[in-house]
Amino acid sequence: MMISRSTASRVAKSVLNHADPRYFSAATSLGGGGYTHGGAAIFLSRNLENALWKTWTRFPAVGVRKSSTLALSKDQRQEEEKVQGGASDGAAATGGGNGNKGVVVSYWGVEPAKITKEDGTEWKWNCFRPWETYTSNTTIDLKKHHAPVTWMDKMAFWTVKALRLPTDIFFQKRYGCRAMMLETVAAVPGMVGGMLLHCQSLRRFEHSGGWIKALLEEAENERMHLMTFMEVSKPRWYERALVFAVQGVFFNAYFLAYLVSPKMAHRIVGYLEEEAIHSYTEFLKELDNGNIENVPAPAIALDYWRLPPGSTLRDVVMVVRADEAHHRDVNHFASDIHCQGLELKAAPAPVGYH
Ligand SMILES: [Fe+2]
Ligand SMILES: [Fe+2]
Repeated sequence: MMISRSTASRVAKSVLNHADPRYFSAATSLGGGGYTHGGAAIFLSRNLENALWKTWTRFPAVGVRKSSTLALSKDQRQEEEKVQGGASDGAAATGGGNGNKGVVVSYWGVEPAKITKEDGTEWKWNCFRPWETYTSNTTIDLKKHHAPVTWMDKMAFWTVKALRLPTDIFFQKRYGCRAMMLETVAAVPGMVGGMLLHCQSLRRFEHSGGWIKALLEEAENERMHLMTFMEVSKPRWYERALVFAVQGVFFNAYFLAYLVSPKMAHRIVGYLEEEAIHSYTEFLKELDNGNIENVPAPAIALDYWRLPPGSTLRDVVMVVRADEAHHRDVNHFASDIHCQGLELKAAPAPVGYH
């Protein structure tokens, strides 16, 4: 919709008079967005159509934060710019583990807390924090298997076996690549299940028994497996395309499966995790045989699993396999609860351990 310049100016003045100063308290330079430090009304009237549009549609969150110094005095504005500039420099200097070079890192002027590791060195990961790290329980029983008894179990079991066949053909013994690609799928069920339980909790005005958190923890844990393996194996363009296609199909298929039969959905994931344990065991054999180079563990793995310095890829595969065994138990347990005619909230969720 086209707005005349005088109308835009009146709208701008009105907005600035009535809007919460937190939202319209400054005009700062937004890269490529045409923002200036000039008068507010002129600024908004000249740029109302394109600047507001760009700010609130293309960069909605950045727009709110970047425009938060408009009503400040010149001194305050300079001070804020100094802080933001310093923060940006700091981010660029430290890297931060999330590639935020040149990005304003303060949140409404609040500087991020400085986090250090136990040895006093700076914590460099923004994607997870020290209190989210853990030591994996590698003594977990890797051979546990839920024997398929009911027709539903058998269907879940053979569905997973059928899915394994094309996977074996495609990857063969490239276990690094296989692990990385399969983790892109493995991180989906927890998120879908957690999301659906979340919505159910809202609809029914009731607690979830901790299962939302348990399933979202699983999704995050799987995603961290992916973040680790992508450090040792880089996807090719056709592998990226495959992930794109598989995610589109698998997300929707699992979403529908979970709506129709959560006990079947959890049983399928339980069997998928059994297959994941098998794959990582084969991965370890290849490492031990020298067919795959046992390279040093990626830095992200050392911090996430609290591995000692000098750990290798083999140590990483060991802890990832233990995680998969935990996911296997969680999902078979969830399916067992449903099989008893109960809802998940009837049993406390296994939250906070791996
Ligand atoms: Fe995984
Ligand atoms: Fe898993």
